[in-house]
Amino acid sequence: MTEAGLLKKALHSVVAGQVNAAADPYRPGWHLAPPVGLLNDPNGFIQHNGRFHLFYQWNPLACAHGAKFWGHWSSADLLHWQHEPLALVPSEEFETHGCYSGSAVTDNGQLTLIYTGNVKYPDGSRTAFQCLARENTEGQFDKTGPVLSLPAGYTGHVRDPKVWRHENHWYMVLGAQDLNLQGKVLLLRSDNLLAWDLLGEMAGSGLHGLGEFGYMWECPDLFRLGDNDILICCPQGLAAESDRYLNTFQSGYFVGQLDYDNATLEHGEFTELDLGFEFYAPQTTQTDDGRRLLIGWMGIPDSDEFFQPTIQNGWLHTMTCPRELTMVAGKIMQKPARELQQLRRDEQAWQGTADDCPHLDMTKAETEIITEHAFSADLGGDMTLSFDGEWLRLTRKNRRTGLPEHRVWRGALHKLTVLSDASSLEIFINDGEAVMSSRYFPALPAQLTVRGSHQIALRHWSLAECVI
Ligand code: FRU
Repeated sequence: MTEAGLLKKALHSVVAGQVNAAADPYRPGWHLAPPVGLLNDPNGFIQHNGRFHLFYQWNPLACAHGAKFWGHWSSADLLHWQHEPLALVPSEEFETHGCYSGSAVTDNGQLTLIYTGNVKYPDGSRTAFQCLARENTEGQFDKTGPVLSLPAGYTGHVRDPKVWRHENHWYMVLGAQDLNLQGKVLLLRSDNLLAWDLLGEMAGSGLHGLGEFGYMWECPDLFRLGDNDILICCPQGLAAESDRYLNTFQSGYFVGQLDYDNATLEHGEFTELDLGFEFYAPQTTQTDDGRRLLIGWMGIPDSDEFFQPTIQNGWLHTMTCPRELTMVAGKIMQKPARELQQLRRDEQAWQGTADDCPHLDMTKAETEIITEHAFSADLGGDMTLSFDGEWLRLTRKNRRTGLPEHRVWRGALHKLTVLSDASSLEIFINDGEAVMSSRYFPALPAQLTVRGSHQIALRHWSLAECVI
């Protein structure tokens, strides 16, 4: 379909559906969600000329995966986001089946998007082009077209370019699947964003002592944090173990040192970035004040996503809150971006035996639980959180099967910070040593009830709505 035709359809869909979607009680008050339709990966996260931009994989036409557009928000403060005109519409031959994920850079002062043009053929095969689009003076994006076609030695699954500047070159990491169906991350270099040299496979299944580690690695991101290079990626096809890899697909990181000349990343173990039920395809950016921020998709592909009740109101999925990353003792620590503290209202503090704790409204709230001892908490809906002195366990009923499902973390607990927003929970453990992000659909207003015979200290704030 032509660009004009697709734009018209998207406009109709937004106009027809947005009032209903906005009135959904499960609509977040301070997280980003699509006006209508399905949102998935964050794309093109950048601070450009002082302003934050976040693009996203968006199907504005239905709560379904399909031909993806790039939606676009911008913000001065990471709290109040304005929806901008659609950035990319999948109208060209090199992107017939979607303007897939990618990143943004500032090139000679111009906001420039690098994304994957996804093309599927009737016989079920596919190809992928890495493409460029540059912002014009009207704030729209002019497509340059493909700057890289499928490299030899890989299937049609080559996508999700993340581009950054290092010394005098541009570099790109790309998620890929080789002809033996092993997931890889490719490293490429360019002088001008237009012509790219493939330097090699910097990491992947079967490399650097990893053994078999997934049939496809999606959404890579590479950045410096402290004295290390961090590779974030989403390997698909890891077998579930009792306490990790429990979602359909994983999202995590390797800590290492990137050898740019030899295109290799010597790295340690893979660590999951989030242990909750819904988290995938995160992307980071560096802020003007030097922080590394991450936003993820609070969803998982090929999961029970289509059983979420917001579909009845014509929208599906949200982003996580923005998080600040730091390195402590070789591990990434994640904290809610400090800007979010501005949303706090009506502070309450309470201390005593967990069983005597007052019920707290956690519809849109931040709750700090300080304890080292066993306790359990009813979070509303069918979501519960319990700590037995060793294991922290988040439990809910699977929306498809009705059976209980668990996500776990093991360690010495001292503090939990629970951020809630109508239909989501982000649980930060020990100031960001681990995080559990999940969607949930409680009876509203959602109530937090804590139980246990040990002492517990709580701080609680309601959080002001702010998204648009
Ligand atoms: C990850 C992903 C990416 C792809 C995009 C398509 O969720 O599959 O690999 O670019 O979503 O929407």
